[in-house]
Amino acid sequence: MFNVALVLAAVALLLVVVGGIQPLAARLRLPPPVLLAIFGIAIGAASSLAPQSAFDGAARLYQGLPITSETIIYVFLPLLVFEAGIVSDVRRILEDAAPILLLAIVATLVTTAAIGFALWPLAGVPLVDCLLLGSVVATTDPAAVIAIFRDVGAPARLTRLVEGEALLNDAAAIALFVVLLGMIVSGREPSVAAGTREFAVAFLGGAALGVAAGRALLYAVSWLGGDRLAEASLTVALAYLAFIAGERLFHVSGVVTVLVAGLTVGAVGRARITPYNWAFLVDLWEQIAFWARSLVFVLASILVPRLLLNLDWHDIVLTGVLIGAALAARLFVLFGLLPPLSYFGLTQPIGTAYKLAIAWGGLRGALTLALALAVSENPALDPSVHHFVAVLATGMVLFTLLVSGTTLRPVIRLLGLDRLSPRDRVLRDQVLALAYQEVCEAVRETATQYALSKEAVAETVGPYEAWIESAGVRDEAEVALTGRARLAIALLALANQERALVLEAWSQRTVPASAVQVLLRNADALIEGARAGGRLGYRRGAKVALSFRFGFRAAYVLYKRFGMARFLADRLGERFEVLLFTRLLITELIGFTGRRLHPTFGAEIAELARKILSSRLAATTAAVEALRNQYPDHAAALETQFLRQSASRREMGRYQALFEEGLIAREIYDDLRRSVDEARQSEHRPRFDLGLDTTRLIGRLDLLSGLDKAQLARVQRLLRPRFTVPDEVILRQGERADAVYFIASGAVEVRLSRQRIQLGTGDFFGEMALLTRQPRQADVVALTYCRLLELGKSDFEKFMAENPDARAEINRVAQARLEMNRRGVAIVTDA
Ligand code: CMP
Repeated sequence: MFNVALVLAAVALLLVVVGGIQPLAARLRLPPPVLLAIFGIAIGAASSLAPQSAFDGAARLYQGLPITSETIIYVFLPLLVFEAGIVSDVRRILEDAAPILLLAIVATLVTTAAIGFALWPLAGVPLVDCLLLGSVVATTDPAAVIAIFRDVGAPARLTRLVEGEALLNDAAAIALFVVLLGMIVSGREPSVAAGTREFAVAFLGGAALGVAAGRALLYAVSWLGGDRLAEASLTVALAYLAFIAGERLFHVSGVVTVLVAGLTVGAVGRARITPYNWAFLVDLWEQIAFWARSLVFVLASILVPRLLLNLDWHDIVLTGVLIGAALAARLFVLFGLLPPLSYFGLTQPIGTAYKLAIAWGGLRGALTLALALAVSENPALDPSVHHFVAVLATGMVLFTLLVSGTTLRPVIRLLGLDRLSPRDRVLRDQVLALAYQEVCEAVRETATQYALSKEAVAETVGPYEAWIESAGVRDEAEVALTGRARLAIALLALANQERALVLEAWSQRTVPASAVQVLLRNADALIEGARAGGRLGYRRGAKVALSFRFGFRAAYVLYKRFGMARFLADRLGERFEVLLFTRLLITELIGFTGRRLHPTFGAEIAELARKILSSRLAATTAAVEALRNQYPDHAAALETQFLRQSASRREMGRYQALFEEGLIAREIYDDLRRSVDEARQSEHRPRFDLGLDTTRLIGRLDLLSGLDKAQLARVQRLLRPRFTVPDEVILRQGERADAVYFIASGAVEVRLSRQRIQLGTGDFFGEMALLTRQPRQADVVALTYCRLLELGKSDFEKFMAENPDARAEINRVAQARLEMNRRGVAIVTDA
C-alpha cells in the first residue's frame, strides 16, 4: 500500500526540481535532460552508497512510488508521442517524406541490426536479445540538436528533417521493439519474414487507425462550438484512447496509432480549430509533455545507480561496443544513404558539418529509458536479459547525455556551424530593418495621436534608426549585394507578409477553413521559392499556386473514369474560393510594396516587386474569370458570402463597443450576439455545382430547338454530359471516332495543321470523322471550362435518322468545314 499524501508530495517535489532545473540549464547552456539525469542519479547513488541517510529516505520514497514500467508506458508514452505529433508541421514533413521515411525506418533497422550483430559474439545472450537492445536504443531524442540548430540558425529544412526523422524513428523503433519482444516472450523461432510481416502490420495498421482516430476527433470538435477547454480535453482523451485501442483492440502498434493521430490533428486541426484555441492547445500540450518527459527522466535515473550497482568490466566493454556500433550505424546512414537520395533529387544535399553534428547529437532520452525499464520488469524474460538490456541501455543514455550532450555546443562551434554566412547575415539584417522601420512608424503614429513631443520621438526611434543605418553600412561593406539578391530578400518579405495576412484573415473568419490550408501552402511555396531561387523561385511558386494540384487531378480522374462528380465539384469550389481570396491578398500586397518595401529597398526594387505582383494579379484574375464566365451564379454567391461575413464581423464589433460604453445592457448585448452567431452558423457555404443536368444543357443548343417534346425526350436519353477543364485535349487528330460533342457552355479550339478555329456555345464538333468514316481531322482542345453533351457513335446514327432537320444542318456544317479544310490544303500546295 502506498500513502497518497506521500506520493503526491514526492511528485510535487519532483516538479519543484524540474522547474528549477530549467533556468539553471539555460544559464549553463546545457540540455535540461542532462541536469535532470545528474540530479536523479545523485539521489539514487546517495541512497545506495549511504543507506539510512536522508537521501536514502528520499530515494526509497521515489523507488517505492507505484510507478512500474507499465505505468510509464501507459501513462507517459501516449502523452509524449501525441505531443510530438501534434506540434510537427506535417505538410512540411510530407514535402520531405521520402528522405524522412527512408531515414527513419531504414535507420532504425540499420541501427538495430548493427548493434545486434556487434554485441552478439561478445554478450553471451541470443541474437534476438541483442536486437531487442538495439531497438531500445534506436530511438533518438532530437530536442537538444534542434534547440541548438535553432540557436545557430540552421536551415529550417534541415531542422525539419531531423525533427521528422526522430519522430518516425521513435515510432519505428517502438514497433520493432514490440515485435522482437513478442518473439522472445512467445519463444518462437525468430524469423526475418515473420518479423517483417508483423512489423509492417503493426506500423501500417497503426497508421491507418491513427488517421481514423484523428479524423474522428476533428469531426467531434466541430460540434463543440469553439470551446477551447472542451477541445483540449478531447485531445487528451484521444491520446489515451488511440493508444489503448491500437494496443488492445486492434493489435497494432499503439505508439504509431497515437503518433499518426497526433499528426493528423496537427495537419488538419490548424485549419479547423481557431488560431486562438490552437495556440492554447499547443501550449497545453507543451506543458503536459514537459511534465511527462521530466518525470520519466528523473524516475528512471533514480533507478539507474541500482541497475549499475552490479556492473562489471564485461558490461563496460559491451557498453563501449554498443556506443561504437550505434554511432557507426548513424554515420553510415548519414554518409552512405543520404547522398544517393540527394543525387536522385529527393532531398537537398546536407553539408558534412551538419551531418557530423546530427550524428554526434543523437542523444538517447526518456523513451529509451522507458523501454529499458519495460524490459527489466518483464517477468517473461530471463533475468540475465533484464540485466543485459537495462544496464547497457542506461549506459548508453548516460553516455550520450553526459558526453555528447555536454559537448554538443562546443562541437557545433568547432564545426563552424554557429557562424552565419555573409548572405544570411544580410538577410537577417534586412528583415530586422523592416521590422524596426515598422516600430518607428508606430511610435510616430502614437506620438501624433497623443501630441507627444518631437524630442521624445527622436529619443525613442533614434536607436532603431541608428541600427538600421549601421547595419546598412556594415552589409554594404561586407557583401556588395547585387540587385538580384536585394530583390530576392524583398520577395521573401512579401511572401512572409502574405502568410501573415492569411493567418489574420483566418483568425477573423473571413476565409473558409478549406481555403486556408491551400492558401498557407501557397504562401509557404512562395517563401521557399524566394529563399532558394529568388525571383525565379518566387515566380515558380506563384505558378504552382495557380496550377491544378494533385487533389484536383485525382478528383478529375475519379470523375472521368467513374463518373463521380462530387469530388471534382468540391475541388472546383475550393479553387474558386482560393483564387478569389488570392486576388484580395495580392491587392493588399501591392499596397504593402509601396508602404514598406519602398522605404527599405528603394524605388527600383519596389517597382520590380510591384511588377511581379501585378503579373501575378493578372494571372490570378484570368483564372478567376475563366471560372466566373462559366459559373457566374456561384461567383456571385461567394462574393455575397464574403461581404456578409465582413458585415457580421463589423456588426459584432459595433455591439461590443455599444456594450462597453454602457449604451446597451448585457442581456441585449448577449441577445444580439447570439442572433449574429446563429445567422452565421445557419449560413451554409455555397456548394459548387458543376451544372451537368442534361435537360438544362439541351436547352442551350439551338440545333435542337426545333424538336418537339417527344423527340427531345428521346434525344435526352442519348446524350451524356461531360465537363472539361481549360487546356484539356478532348479529341486527338488521327484517333478513331466514337462520338460527337455539342458545346452547351464554354469554348474549344480546333487545331488544324495550318490554322486554329474557335467554336463556342451551341457549336458541335467531332462529326466529320463519323460522317466520313475517317480518323479525326484535328485536335480539339478546351479553351475554358466546358460543359459538353456527348453523343456516342451508334446513338449519333440513330439521332440523324430520327431528326431530319438536325441531320440537314449537321451535314451542311460538316460539308462547309470539309470545303474549308480542302481549300486550306489547296492554298498550301499552291504556295
Ligand atoms: P473530326 O474530324 O471528327 O474531329 C476533329 C473535328 O474538328 C472535326 O471532326 C470537326 O468537328 C472539327 N473541325 C475540323 N475542321 C474544322 C473547321 N474547318 N472548322 C470548324 N471545325 C472543324
